[in-house]
Amino acid sequence: MSEYIPMSLPDIDETDVEAVAEVVRSGRLALGPKTAAFEEAVAGYVGVKHAVAVSSGTAALHLIVRALGVGPGDEVLVPSFTFAASVNAILYVGAVPVFVDIEPDTFNIDPDDMERKITAKTRAVMVVDIFGHPAEWDAILRIADERGLRVIDDSCEALGAEYKGRKLGQFGDAGAFAFYPNKQMTTGEGGIIVTDDEKIADLCRSLCNQGRGRMGAWLEHERLGYNYRMDEMSAALGLSQMKRIESFLAKRQGVAGLYNEKFAPYEWITVPTVRDHVRISWFVYVVLLAEGIDRDAVIGAMGEKDIPVRAYFPPLHLQPFVAKRIDVSRGSLTVTEEVAERTLAIPFHNNLREEQIDRVVKELTAVTGVFAK
Ligand SMILES: Cc1ncc(COP(=O)(O)O)c(C=O)c1O
Repeated sequence: MSEYIPMSLPDIDETDVEAVAEVVRSGRLALGPKTAAFEEAVAGYVGVKHAVAVSSGTAALHLIVRALGVGPGDEVLVPSFTFAASVNAILYVGAVPVFVDIEPDTFNIDPDDMERKITAKTRAVMVVDIFGHPAEWDAILRIADERGLRVIDDSCEALGAEYKGRKLGQFGDAGAFAFYPNKQMTTGEGGIIVTDDEKIADLCRSLCNQGRGRMGAWLEHERLGYNYRMDEMSAALGLSQMKRIESFLAKRQGVAGLYNEKFAPYEWITVPTVRDHVRISWFVYVVLLAEGIDRDAVIGAMGEKDIPVRAYFPPLHLQPFVAKRIDVSRGSLTVTEEVAERTLAIPFHNNLREEQIDRVVKELTAVTGVFAK
């Protein structure tokens, strides 16, 4: 029997365990000082004035969309090559996602196609920094500025990434990060909104806390809100993990570097592109298989070898629940559709050992090599 190599694994040590245990022992499990401290730590790290911790990355995106006043009938530009949450946050408020194609190398939103898809109804763009690689922010912000669009950064996969020396989270009206256990660092479930705009921060703080105002009594609700609060155990874990974020990113860079090196001789496997002017924050490691490789067969064969690999991401405009709600025929998404047939995420986490990396490379190149020849 070969060793099972997990797709992802959180990096938890005894200081994390103790941080959470301390909160549990204290009895202060919600609405306490750990959440405030975690918010401060993330805001400081990212370089923004405000951070509002919430229960998930999806909740963060939903609240940003609401705080920007996007509503029924408004169009929001968004890539289809993303996780469902980017699009769901638009659908939650009755707005219309308008799908934008992606760049063929980074798989991020294509600024030219974004510009083409703007109409009189376009209110905002939801930019996604896919797999931890920053989108082309200069071009995106120039277009948004010229056309009067609000800008949301779905940076859920990209904590710590930088575009031209500036950390993601500083771009657009507000940004969201996520802390599910497969992310660069974790709070269990969790997410956070970051912004320099005090009004957006205040609104998100109210919306995540059942619409309560800053000053009002506990049972006074100023607006329709949600319970999207982060609890104190999650915040304590996040705070403890934040202390090691740079070492986490360095470990991930090390694993990605080894994969890059070891896949180099195999021309039918294209490793991730990293542009010169960015610092990627490795979330997952996704290779692009050459045309003609039967990806489903590869996934099956790798599974039999106890190495899970996944088709990341099936495009959202092709998901039946999306297609049922909105007209997705508008404009073609040729790059998205082509890329999404050939991308494959392979096991990736901070502590993947070199012999595990060697096994993944050996098996994947053998299984795909059969088609490539
Ligand atoms: C691009 C993107 N957006 C949003 C989310 C949502 O985050 P969560 O799972 O914490 O709700 C994720 C999570 O994987 C994501 O990858």
